[in-house]
Amino acid sequence: MDVNSDSAFLRQFSIVIAGFMALTLALIFLARFVVPEPENDANPSQAVLAEQRVVPVGAVRSGDEGAAALAEAQAMAAAAAPVQEVVVDGPTVYGGLCMSCHDAGVAGAPIKGSDQMAERLAAKGLDMLVQNAINGINAMPARGGNPALTDEQIRVAVEFMLP
Ligand code: HEC
Repeated sequence: MDVNSDSAFLRQFSIVIAGFMALTLALIFLARFVVPEPENDANPSQAVLAEQRVVPVGAVRSGDEGAAALAEAQAMAAAAAPVQEVVVDGPTVYGGLCMSCHDAGVAGAPIKGSDQMAERLAAKGLDMLVQNAINGINAMPARGGNPALTDEQIRVAVEFMLP
């Protein structure tokens, strides 16, 4: 290799490199032209989300203004809470729980609509039966084992069990 061919190579190689650099720049400009740079606040919900992330966990409320704010917050919380409807219906309550023992007489449970229930009713009276169903008696668990049942629900279930 002589000096001439070396410099010829260098010249051609430089031209190729320069060509690639020009192409790179052209592509960069083309890309920016096709896809304009996104603005940071382009999405309005981003600002809202950012605000939500930095709200204080608690607030001090005082005076009339505080009471109003508190009432509003409580109303909103109440509106957001799921409404749980209490079904005061004998067959529903009985069928949902009590039947598991009182249909077949499990562990000596008086069978629904039987003479056993009639005897207990005669001996204790309805109020006492309801009280015992609420508090539990011997193998009979308090509220049939579901503490979420209300006194009213227990009463209608007991009434439904009578012959
Ligand atoms: C795990 C079984 C079981 C479940 C569930 C159950 N009971 Fe009982 N229950 C019993 C047994 C056992 C007795 C008999 C207790 C005794 O007198 O020794 C009984 C007795 C009773 C009595 C008679 C109480 C008395 O003073 O003689 C009533 C009323 C009664 N249950 C109502 C209910 C109602 C209403 C439910 C549903 C909310 C229910 N039970 C669910 C087992 C059960």
